[in-house]
Amino acid sequence: MIFLALYVLFLGDEVFDVVVCDQVSACIPVFKLARRRKKILFYCHFPDLLLTKRDSFLKRLYRAPIDWVEEYTTGMADCILVNSQFTAAIFKKTFKSLSHRDPDVLYPSLNVTSFDSAVPEKLDDLVPEGKKFLFLSINRYERKKNLTLALEALVKLRGRLTPQDWDRVHLIMAGGYDERVLENVEHYQELKKMAQQFDLDQSVTFLRSFSDKQKISLLHSCTCVIYTPSNEHFGIVPVEAMYMQCPVVAVNSGGPLESIVHSVTGFLCEPDPVQFSEAIEKFIHEPALKVTMGRAGRARVKEKFSSEAFTEQLYQYVTKLLV
Ligand SMILES: *[C@@H]1O[C@H](CO)[C@@H](O)[C@H](O)[C@H]1NC(C)=O
Ligand SMILES: *[C@@H]1O[C@H](CO)[C@@H](O)[C@H](O)[C@H]1NC(C)=O
Repeated sequence: MIFLALYVLFLGDEVFDVVVCDQVSACIPVFKLARRRKKILFYCHFPDLLLTKRDSFLKRLYRAPIDWVEEYTTGMADCILVNSQFTAAIFKKTFKSLSHRDPDVLYPSLNVTSFDSAVPEKLDDLVPEGKKFLFLSINRYERKKNLTLALEALVKLRGRLTPQDWDRVHLIMAGGYDERVLENVEHYQELKKMAQQFDLDQSVTFLRSFSDKQKISLLHSCTCVIYTPSNEHFGIVPVEAMYMQCPVVAVNSGGPLESIVHSVTGFLCEPDPVQFSEAIEKFIHEPALKVTMGRAGRARVKEKFSSEAFTEQLYQYVTKLLV
């Protein structure tokens, strides 16, 4: 990034007034060297120093200067953007020396082209016959995503449904999976075992590493999406689901608080299996809910999380730097 910044300056810095810098702040001081002063907009997304583990003393030692550089150079930007109000609060807690700065929010957006052009496939090979209520969880196979909450909610749901209704319920746990990542491998096994213990084998399909086309087909066919992580920085899955007119049941913390409107485009619940199952059950007894919430969800994505919304907001932030 520093090399690229030098390269850009070397090519001539007469032609631009604002630098938009994404994710890595280390290059910001280089732009400050420009002969003609530049304004710098830094899209931080989320503090990088919170995304790496520091298990050992050596790792902490190694990260200390890097963390310092991140904080110091982030503070040199003229405008700082993060991906949600939730992250803005984390930003202030993390970068203590920047507590006088209030980062602005620029929500990530959805490129809807692939969603609009895809022709949904049949899901015969994923969903057993006779299932009417298809619930979908999409998340990487990581423990912090709290996927067990979806399985536990399903158990609670079974307790409240008639056997006839229960027979028509199916959950698909779809998730990014990389066999080189130990946690993915272990957690997949843990979840499979848990499903067996709960006697859910017939009601759950685990899907690893699905294609975009499969994802769109699943979103197209499902009754609602179950989104289990707490304190998610932003969370693109609920936005994708809402665009596909699919209501979302999510935890009432983190990004989903800003993307989902409670009782309008989905339900926000405590991370509690009973609350989740109650929300899910509503879609079984009230089929029209999916349709009305689905429509509201798509409208919300178009208004707040479309490429156009992103472009417009970014444009406002850039022009504000020029006055
Ligand atoms: C959206 O995706 C399509 C196809 O993948 C691409 O052609 C288009 O440029 C993208 N639009 C934006 C705004 O990124
Ligand atoms: C994960 O879900 C369980 C219930 O299944 C809940 O008790 C726990 O608090 C959740 N974890 C987080 C971090 O929200």
